[in-house]
Amino acid sequence: MGYDIDRIRADFPALESGNAHFDGPGGTQTPRQVAQAIAGALTAPLSNRGTLTQGEKNAEQFVLSARDAMAALLGGESTGVVFGRSATQLCYDFSRWISRDWGPGDEIVVTRLDHDSNIRPWAQAAERTGATLKWLNFDPESGELDSIDSVLSEHTKLVAVTAASNLIGTKPPVASISKAAHEVGALCYVDGVHYTAHCFVDVDELGADFYSCSPYKFLGPHLGVLHARPSLLEELWPDKLLPSTNQVPERFEFGTLPYEMLAGVSAAVDYLSTLGGAQGNSLRDGVRNSFESLEQYEHELLAKLEAELSTMSKVKIHSNAKNRTPTLLLTFEGKSTVDAYHFLAARKVDAPSSNFYALEASRRLGLGNDGGLRVGLAPYSSAEDTNRLVTGLREFLAS
Ligand SMILES: Cc1ncc(COP(=O)(O)O)c(C=O)c1O
Repeated sequence: MGYDIDRIRADFPALESGNAHFDGPGGTQTPRQVAQAIAGALTAPLSNRGTLTQGEKNAEQFVLSARDAMAALLGGESTGVVFGRSATQLCYDFSRWISRDWGPGDEIVVTRLDHDSNIRPWAQAAERTGATLKWLNFDPESGELDSIDSVLSEHTKLVAVTAASNLIGTKPPVASISKAAHEVGALCYVDGVHYTAHCFVDVDELGADFYSCSPYKFLGPHLGVLHARPSLLEELWPDKLLPSTNQVPERFEFGTLPYEMLAGVSAAVDYLSTLGGAQGNSLRDGVRNSFESLEQYEHELLAKLEAELSTMSKVKIHSNAKNRTPTLLLTFEGKSTVDAYHFLAARKVDAPSSNFYALEASRRLGLGNDGGLRVGLAPYSSAEDTNRLVTGLREFLAS
């Protein structure tokens, strides 16, 4: 059946407003099915997790189903799925637990391509423990990350790397980075927040000891998810309340989980698995098929958009890596990207201007703290949307 953009767009009530959304990397619009699952969870009997009453059973089911859904999406194990408020909160929590045995002489690697949420928690943990922080740079022209070999040593304890830059879209070679990290005995913490919205994830192939993502970037609700091998989670011991369980993964989830959001996570993964239009034998098969279709669709739409942008002499495109997501960072000769953001917003074309918390990357690109105008494609992006963007930009540049 393939990728049916009209069918998909009809599932997103927010699109009825007429806005062209290029702000997906900041958070996607939500399909009706996900919103209905959240409302359904809240309007059905709902109590705390348990096995006796209907409300308890529903809460239990929402948690277990969401773990299964995330395992299917990431190619991981259900008992390796930890839910949290956001990817940032999960990275802060895990950085504190992972760094407990760090000390002087140990080395931690972070990259200038990453969102600050996969840099600062590690930098602060290194500072607290006396470990040395090492930076992996990227080439501002090509957007490619430098070789990991330049910063690894037998003292490296952890490499924190993004699977895709939320600023310029670069997809670093995570599988070979994690392989090199493992060869020196280091762990690899992979930020998959931007990547998961565009690519078929296999945490084992990526060699991600820890993999974080945020369902609100892939048509789901606002929370964070971390995956790690259950055997690795068994080695980490967070402080916890006396009556709460020591079981993995529950011991990393504090207090009551947001059951309605978890119902939304399951619905989002179900929805993602239907994007390609083909029925799979399993949820994982459906997800694989959908991401193949989505990648091809987004790739073609991006190629047309880039062809148009390349004819505009005043537009500089900072997204140039060989492998990258359909996310473009733009700046304009003699014109402010904030003005462009406002100009486009007045025409219901939503493409914000910022560093998007990829502060180190923005500075490395020579853009200081300002960043640029970010144009991100999402599963509901259409050719009409990109035409409106191109027209809006032409008008802005001529104004
Ligand atoms: C690549 C990347 N990492 C991390 C984050 C932070 O995610 P969260 O809002 O779930 O903390 C974002 C959010 O924009 C992101 O794009």
